[in-house]
Amino acid sequence: MGNSTLTNTTDRVEVKVDLAERSYPIHIGSPILNDNKLLNSLLAPHIHGTQVMIVSNVTVAPLYLKYVEDALTSYHTESVILPDGEQYKNIESWNSIFDALLNARFDRKCTLIALGGGVVGDITGFAAASYQRGVNFIQIPTTLLAQVDSSVGGKTGVNHPLGKNMIGAFHQPECVIADTQTLNSLDDRQLSAGVAEVIKYGLIRDVPFFEWLEQNIDSLLQRDPAALSYAIQRSCENKAEVVAADELEAGQRALLNSGHTFGHAIEAGMGYGEWLHGEAIATGMVMAVDLSQSLGWISSVDVMRLRNLIKRSNLPEQGPAELSSDDYLQRMAVDKKSEAGKIRLILQKSIGDAVLSTAFSEQQLRDTITANSSTAD
Ligand code: NAD
Ligand code: GLY
Repeated sequence: MGNSTLTNTTDRVEVKVDLAERSYPIHIGSPILNDNKLLNSLLAPHIHGTQVMIVSNVTVAPLYLKYVEDALTSYHTESVILPDGEQYKNIESWNSIFDALLNARFDRKCTLIALGGGVVGDITGFAAASYQRGVNFIQIPTTLLAQVDSSVGGKTGVNHPLGKNMIGAFHQPECVIADTQTLNSLDDRQLSAGVAEVIKYGLIRDVPFFEWLEQNIDSLLQRDPAALSYAIQRSCENKAEVVAADELEAGQRALLNSGHTFGHAIEAGMGYGEWLHGEAIATGMVMAVDLSQSLGWISSVDVMRLRNLIKRSNLPEQGPAELSSDDYLQRMAVDKKSEAGKIRLILQKSIGDAVLSTAFSEQQLRDTITANSSTAD
């Protein structure tokens, strides 16, 4: 079928997100999608009614939609195929899911399945949070970024032209199914973008994982199955722990936004889709550690370790020449971590030790942005 590349190898692990009655499993491994019986057995306990709406996009659907449909032949399944790209993570795409649900007369017991990367996952989750005041949904992430981050934790939403992810809701999935073989059809740039979020977990809270990445980054980029599985498992374990402790981001969950305030300014400032989310976050983490160093916190050795890992992952260390520090500051003020217009950032005391902080001046912030931006030719 299509150009998909699923074969029968390796096995599976399960990571649990512990949220009392809303707890759910993350199944990681392969084969999953091309094993009808297995996929059905993983999905069925989480499908409450008989109606299933699969949401995907024009790139992913030709590769993997058939597998999901084939596992669900005993249900009434329909699909919505969205356009592909961060620029379509908007209210119009969100609304097109309601059109499909209403046209098919789907009731409040229906289940939505997100099949795709973080864009499809975030829009679908938000549609599930809103349709008839909230229905069931399942994530089948197919990018590395979505498998290690966006499919887990229940943050859903769409972008606004004035700010990234500004419209949304918390709505946890019923389960997450990450088939690592779907990553074989991802291009190298998208794989690297996912690695940025993997590095994030090491940077903010997991020194051994950061060290493992320093030793194994080449295998990961070469898609060694064991390296990929371990990176996804460890990332999900980190995310599950944080989400279980602080589901609605009253405190420590904010640390998962390392590099994101800078990164969101790049994504929105350059036009959604121009810089990949993971690329913008990579540069954002470099800026965050640079600012932390100028505050006398993180050591120059740790800063170099992060820069090296970012560089070896083929991720950008420098922000785009097109954006001035004014552009950043304007965008950064529109951030969910801001309080009364005051920018709050995730900064680093060292690798593995992150804090949410306002302990920097506007000038220090501007200097960091300028020092870590490409210069126009
Ligand atoms: P994406 O969804 O745009 O996917 C990247 C590209 O890969 C797209 O072109 C997509 O069609 C394609 N693709 C997906 N799976 C594929 C496959 N298996 N083979 C070939 N091509 C494939 O981007 P992303 O990096 O997955 O996600 C980024 C989004 O996730 C951003 O909008 C970001 O804000 C969001 N995000 C959300 C959270 C959260 O907690 N909800 C966390 C991190 C990021
Ligand atoms: N990606 C940030 C979070 O899920 O909290």
